[in-house]
This record gives sequence, structure tokens and C-alpha cells, in this order.
Amino acid sequence: MIRLAVVGCGGAAWIGHLPWIWERPEVELTATCALDEVTARQAAQRWNGKSWYVDYGEMLSRERLDAVVIATPPDTHAELALSALERGLHVLIEKPMARTVAECDALIVAAERCGAILTVGHEKRFNPGFEAIKRIIEDGTLGHVFYLVVHWSAAVRLDPDRLCPPDYRTSYEWRWTSPSAGGGILADHLPHYLDLWRWWTDAELESIDVQLLNVRKDLIGDQLLGGPHEDFAVALMKFTNGCVGVFESGNVGRGLSPILHIGSGVGEWSEYGMIYGTRGHLVFDLLPWDSPEMPRIMMYSLEEKRPSYRGWFQVELPDPYRAPGGPLSPRSNPHYQFKRQMDHFIDCIANNAAPRVTAWDGRATVAAVEAAYRSRDEGGRVTLSAPLRALV
Ligand SMILES: NC(=O)c1ccc[n+]([C@@H]2O[C@H](COP(=O)([O-])OP(=O)(O)OC[C@H]3O[C@@H](n4cnc5c(N)ncnc54)[C@H](O)[C@@H]3O)[C@@H](O)[C@H]2O)c1
Repeated sequence: MIRLAVVGCGGAAWIGHLPWIWERPEVELTATCALDEVTARQAAQRWNGKSWYVDYGEMLSRERLDAVVIATPPDTHAELALSALERGLHVLIEKPMARTVAECDALIVAAERCGAILTVGHEKRFNPGFEAIKRIIEDGTLGHVFYLVVHWSAAVRLDPDRLCPPDYRTSYEWRWTSPSAGGGILADHLPHYLDLWRWWTDAELESIDVQLLNVRKDLIGDQLLGGPHEDFAVALMKFTNGCVGVFESGNVGRGLSPILHIGSGVGEWSEYGMIYGTRGHLVFDLLPWDSPEMPRIMMYSLEEKRPSYRGWFQVELPDPYRAPGGPLSPRSNPHYQFKRQMDHFIDCIANNAAPRVTAWDGRATVAAVEAAYRSRDEGGRVTLSAPLRALV
């Protein structure tokens, strides 16, 4: 039996972790932990947890655990993960791995010393659509990839009373107002896509140049919800393989999806991107993170000779898997990225195997965020040093 605890029982844990632990008979949800008792208890009761805590230190000293999932805000990641690693526990930390490279380094050293698994919740790598894109890039169908672009947008900070789901208001507000959050929309979302770009193309980020705005504070004049962080970000990046990347993200305006025409249809944001190569290009479009639907991927390829509309065709993905109980019902969604990520974490623990997302991968995304804020502060392009490979 693998004894696992989840610390942080908010949006990420309810969608991304708790349901998928419950499904594995060889795993026990030994404890949940949150800042307030009601939240910790509700999570334990809903997902068959044995006990619940409001004090993480007390949970670690009282319970016999093998692993911890950390799904709290980023300013707590390093401290909570270090305490777990010092006890030799395996750790899955939600993205971003930590707020700074120095915090990441401390975690890497601790994990290497105790031999525990340390992985980061870059769950998009477990999305079958993004796995298909990796295969398409690797088999050369797009030729030499030279341009990657991602657009993530919502209007929720422009119109929070109408657009913010009531249960999610507190999850949004620390992102907007907490001075210790480690950053704004860029720190929240760039790690997801930087991780994918590194994984898809096997290249490291070479330089980054950003423009950041705090629209709610500086243009709307709202000091309360404006908070200290940017709510609109554009980053221009260069990768070591020559590829150019553009990342645009904000929650003060929502772009419509190029494939689904109405934004991603449901949910409060749009998320899509494009990849250009010398032999073809593709557009991908995601549905909300809690949807059982696969992304839509449309592709144009010089290699593809099937008759299709002006050369574009849809990349085949598994059908959405529907079952009584709905999209988040355990056993209902074998293609779901968070379920596959949790299965992988559990399998790595059981087989003493290396995780698909290493702590070094998590660190690389935090290094990119750090460089992005340096670019803001110094006003221009920041070149990254070559990635480290060992610390101890
Ligand atoms: N991978 C993804 O797609 C994804 C999606 C959403 C959030 N996240 C990440 O997950 C993390 C949590 O985000 P969220 O949206 O779930 O936040 P949230 O505000 O909804 O939940 C945070 C939870 O952490 C608890 N908490 C905070 N500090 C604690 C402490 N010191 N000890 C114990 N519990 C503590 C709170 O009580 C709450 O239950 C963040 O790092 C965020 O970036 C990832």
C-alpha cells in the first residue's frame, strides 16, 4: 500500500489530484491538509481520506507517509516540499515548482540526497493531444519547426463579478493580490507552455524579452483587485535550436478560438496555439482543463496527400470518454491528463522509476520566469545561461 497525503485542497487538488488517487486500490489517501478545517475535512470525506489536518508539520510527524502531493500556492511550495523531502517522502509539486531558481535548487539537492522522486505538475505532457504533437514534431512531418505561439486569455479580471465562478473566487484572488505569489499571469501560465516547448523540441530557452501590463491597477485604477502583479503578458523567446516562441497571456480580455470560433466554447478562458515548420504547420485548441474532450488539432502538411479542405485535416485523437458520473467521475476518463499524471506518479513510486517530468524540467520553467521578470526590470532581452545538470 502506498500512503499518500495531499496538501492544499483547492481547485488544483479537486480537479487534478484527489479524484485520481481514489481510483487506485493500492494507494491510500492517508491525509489531506488545508489552511481551514472545513476544506481539509470535505476533501478527506469526499475522497476516502483517513484523516485531515490544518497543520502540515503535525500531519508529517503524526502520519506514516510515502508521498505528498503539494497543491498549495507557489509561495509555500519550497518550504512544504523541503519538509517532505527531509523525511524521504516522494513529492509531486504543482507548477510552478517554486518561486525562484534558488528555491528549486534547494529542493533538487534535498531530493538527490534522500533518493526520493521529485516531480512537478506539468500535466499537459500527459494530454494525448500534446503527446500527438510531440510525435508529429519528432517524426518530421512538420519539417524543421521554427515558430511556436500560444495564446491563453480570459476576461475574468476585467469583469470578476460576472465571469468568476463563485467557488473559484478565492483561488483567483491570491493570484491577483498576494505580494508573495511570485508573479502574475506570466508566472502562472508560462511554465505550462515553456515545459511543453522544451519537451516537444528538445531545445532550451536561449533568450526572452517581455512586455507586462497591470491593466486592472494601472489602466482601470483599481488598487484593490489590481494588486502588485501583471495581468497581461507578451513574451518573445528564442530557443537554442533557432526556434522563435511567442507567448501571450492575460485575464483582462479573451481572444476567440481559431477552431471553435466561440472561444473554447465553455469555461472562462481560451487556450490555443500554432506551430510552424518547414514542411507543415498546425493549430491546436484546448477545451477547459476539467473537460473530458480532447483538444482539436488541425494540421497542414506537405507530406499529407489525402484530399482534404485546402490541405488542412484534423489530427485523430481518442474519442472523449463518457460515463455515468460525469467528466470528473473516477473511472470515467482514462485519457484525462491529470489522471494519467497521477497514475504515472504512483507507478514511478511503485517501480522506483524516473518521472517523465524531472525536477530539472520544473527548474527550467522557473528559470524562464525569473529571466522574464529580469527582462521587465532591465527593459530588454535577457539571455539565459546554459542549463545546469548537477548540483551535488
Ligand atoms: N496544473 C494546473 O493546471 C494547475 C491549475 C490550477 C492551479 N495550479 C497550481 O496549483 C497550486 C494551487 O492552486 P489552486 O488554484 O488550487 O489554489 P487554491 O487557492 O484553490 O487552493 C489552495 C489550497 O492550499 C491550501 N493552503 C495554502 N497554504 C497552505 C499551507 N501552508 N498549508 C496547508 N494548506 C495550505 C489552502 O487552504 C487551499 O486549500 C498553485 O501552485 C497553482 O499554480 C495548477
